[in-house]
Amino acid sequence: MRKPLMAGNWKMNKTIAESADLAKALKSAVSDVSAVEILICPTFTSLAAVNAEIKGTNIKLGAQNLFWENKGAFTGEISPTMLKDAGCSFVLIGHSERRQYFGETDESVNKKTKAAFAAELIPVVCVGETLEEREKNITFKVIEKQVRNGLKDLHGDCAKIVVIAYEPVWAIGTGKTASPDQAQEVHAFIRKIYDDMYKGAGEQIRILYGGSVKPDNVSTLMQQPDIDGGLVGGASLDADSFTKLAKFAK
Ligand code: 13P
Repeated sequence: MRKPLMAGNWKMNKTIAESADLAKALKSAVSDVSAVEILICPTFTSLAAVNAEIKGTNIKLGAQNLFWENKGAFTGEISPTMLKDAGCSFVLIGHSERRQYFGETDESVNKKTKAAFAAELIPVVCVGETLEEREKNITFKVIEKQVRNGLKDLHGDCAKIVVIAYEPVWAIGTGKTASPDQAQEVHAFIRKIYDDMYKGAGEQIRILYGGSVKPDNVSTLMQQPDIDGGLVGGASLDADSFTKLAKFAK
């Protein structure tokens, strides 16, 4: 059985005080949730303050990016061991905004994914097609390339615990959600490709859907057999809406 995972990607939002306030409100609101794993990913500057709020609760901490080296002359970067030190157990990798604005490639995604595992962080590897790619009918080709190249050469249990997030770029922050059928079709495809890469692991890994997930569409998305959770932007910035997502009804 795959335990659902509801993850909030706070992106570049909130001061340290605002982040701590949101974490505090969430921790009491979701303290009774045990059937769903809950993850929040604040900015780097807020990690320590959020960790102080949620340590020992049922909310896990994640970062939004990392660099693959552990220390040295890499000005401006944050290492996997630093994230671990800050209390993280997860890290987002290869979000479409990082691919689009910061030159992230499948190759860098693969290096970061392996570096995350080396520091005992669980990577949430993001994939997804643009509107142009969907309209050209190359969605499956694009996704297959991202999965095969971004997730190659994982060893042992790593292949079984990685999390993949399917986020169609055209659905992010636009209010346009992929229909449950559209999302399910791609999720099932990702699982098939992944199982071809790592025999038997396809059924074990969690595949999250991201792109305008809101309280009013979460249940229908989560009813799809291959959707194991959500990676949520806008609706994770408010305690009430993210609580509703964490408490979605099947
Ligand atoms: P929205 O939920 O705001 O569409 O963002 C999705 C996303 O990019 C999460 O990583």
